[in-house]
Amino acid sequence: MSCTIIVGGFFGDEGKGKIVAHIAHADEPVIISRGGVGPNAGHTVQVGDHEYSVRMVPSGFVYKKAKLCIGSGVLVDPRVLKYEVETLGVKGRIFVDKRCGIITEDHIARDKGSAFLSKKIGSTGSGCGPANADRVMRISPQAKDVPELAEYLLDVPLAINNALKGGQTVLLEGTQGFGISLYYGTYPFVTSKDTSASQIAADNGVGPTKIDDVIVVFKAYPTRVGEGPFSTEMTSEKSDAMGIQEFGTVTHRKRRIGGWDGKMARYSAMINGCTQAAITGIDRIDKACFGLTEYSKLTKKAKDFLKTAENDICCPITLISTGPELTQIIDIRKEYA
Ligand code: IMP
Ligand code: MG
Repeated sequence: MSCTIIVGGFFGDEGKGKIVAHIAHADEPVIISRGGVGPNAGHTVQVGDHEYSVRMVPSGFVYKKAKLCIGSGVLVDPRVLKYEVETLGVKGRIFVDKRCGIITEDHIARDKGSAFLSKKIGSTGSGCGPANADRVMRISPQAKDVPELAEYLLDVPLAINNALKGGQTVLLEGTQGFGISLYYGTYPFVTSKDTSASQIAADNGVGPTKIDDVIVVFKAYPTRVGEGPFSTEMTSEKSDAMGIQEFGTVTHRKRRIGGWDGKMARYSAMINGCTQAAITGIDRIDKACFGLTEYSKLTKKAKDFLKTAENDICCPITLISTGPELTQIIDIRKEYA
C-alpha cells in the first residue's frame, strides 16, 4: 500500500499537475483524488503537443486507468465540472464526494463584486472565498443536494481507505501553494483555506497515519498571481529579459516572477512534512537542461542549484522537471527508496 500527497511549496502554479501526471503513469494508482480549495486552481498538463487545463478534474486524469475523485473538503462548481467532464471524456471514472461544498452563481457574483476580494486580495473571482464562508456559516448546499451531481456521488474517503486497506496505491493531489495558505501564508493575501499536506489529507478523509510520502513541489523561479508580499520578486524587465513570462490558467493574469527563496522553501517543507521534493523549471536555471531525462546529463550549474535547494529544503530532491511535457522529467525516487 502507498498513499502519497503532492502539494505546492511556494505560491501555487509550481507545476504540480505535471508531477502528479508523471507519478500516476509511473506508480499506477487505483485512485487519484483531489484536495485543495476548488475551481480557483488551474493545472496544466502537456502530453505530446496537446496542452490540457483543468480546474475541477484531478490533473492525474491523463493517466487513464485511475478512478478520479474530488475529496469532501473541496468546493465544486457544477458548471465547471460538467464542462470538464464532457471535454475531457472522463465520464464513468470521475466521482465527487457527497459532502463537497457547492459554488453558486451568487458566490461568484459576491467574489467578483467585492472590491476587497477582487482588488485588494486579487482573488480569482471563482466564488471560492464566499462559498467557503457560507460553508463555515453552515448555510451552503452540499453535492448531495444538487440533482446534476447525482450520477457522480461517492463516499470518497471510504473508497480511498478501502483501497489502502487492500494494499493499493492512491495519490492525493493538492492545489494552490504554501504561501497562499489561509493559516501559514501571507495573510490576508491568501486563499480561503489551508493548503498544506495535512489539509489535503483531511480534504480526502485520510488520517495522518495512512500517509507514506509527502512530495512538495518547488519552482526554481517561483511565481505569484494576485496581490501580496513576494520577497524574492524581480522586476518584469528582468524576468522578461530572462525569457520568463507566465500567465494564470484561470484568470490569464500575468504571473509575478521571483528568485529561489531558500528560507521559504525550508519553512514550507517543514510544515508540509516533506519526505521528498520535486523541482520544476530546472531548464530555466540552465537552458541546456531542457528535456533531459537522466540526472547524470544535468549541467554543473543545474546540479549546483539542486544542491543548494536540497540544503534549504532538508529533503532529497527526487523529481526534476526539465520542460512542460509529461515525459520531460528526471525521476530518481528509486535511489532513495
Ligand atoms: P481566491 O482563492 O480566488 O480567493 O484568491 C485568493 C488569492 O489566492 C489570490 O491571490 C489568487 O491569485 C490566489 N490563488 C488562488 N488559487 C490559486 C492557484 O491555484 N494558483 C495560484 N494562485 C492562486
Ligand atoms: Mg495553477
